[in-house]
Amino acid sequence: MTAKTVLRLAPSILSADFSRLGEEVRAIEAAGCDLVHFDVMDNHYVPNLTIGPMICEAIRPHVQIPIDVHLMVEPVDAIIPLFAKAGANIITFHPEASRHVDRSLSMIRELGCKAGLVLNPATPIECLNHVMDKLDMILLMSVNPGFGGQKFIPSTLQKLALVRQKIDAHVGAGGQEIWLEVDGGVKVDNIGEIVRAGADTCVAGSAVFGAPDADGGYRGVMNALRHAAAPA
Ligand code: DX5
Ligand code: ZN
Repeated sequence: MTAKTVLRLAPSILSADFSRLGEEVRAIEAAGCDLVHFDVMDNHYVPNLTIGPMICEAIRPHVQIPIDVHLMVEPVDAIIPLFAKAGANIITFHPEASRHVDRSLSMIRELGCKAGLVLNPATPIECLNHVMDKLDMILLMSVNPGFGGQKFIPSTLQKLALVRQKIDAHVGAGGQEIWLEVDGGVKVDNIGEIVRAGADTCVAGSAVFGAPDADGGYRGVMNALRHAAAPA
């Protein structure tokens, strides 16, 4: 993350109380988060099944902040327009899950949303090479996708630094801004090194929704994350 960038926090509602989802997203917005991270799993690309466009549409009126839809589905093209219509602002997908990555990225932008690619821990960063101009976000997975509450994979830090260099070179050459997001196992005790390695946007699921009320609940953990991420 460069000095002028402000850290964006994106709580993943995967760890929210689904019986009170409207209330939960209002609470994280009130607690100062920047994006709602919305994990879509299809029991095909990943071994878990979560939420779809109907839920996105249902929560949309409850918050002003952007909804950051992370598609863990295969294929992606048919589902993209449904999320754009349901009020998604950012739509990211995994390159392995689309036969035609350039086409899927273009489709997202044509529908008025910001577009991004998600790289699994073992996905090489070279897959970004020919589509940098089509990206508004790059999301690096710091766990294997499918579940909340997993442990951060440390090699993500080196990968983050490499992607940060790639983005800075792209912007330096006159390219558009690209956000660099990290997803999986982000906590108060590791967000500092994650941000120093180059992330400007951090997803946090269990860290936010599991925050004890005694420590100030969602606002308390959001402040603790920002404080831990701030340069010394
Ligand atoms: C994993 C999801 C993540 C996850 C993050 O496949 O994409 O967004 O919910 O949860 P934590 O922060 O608990 O690792
Ligand atoms: Zn996610």
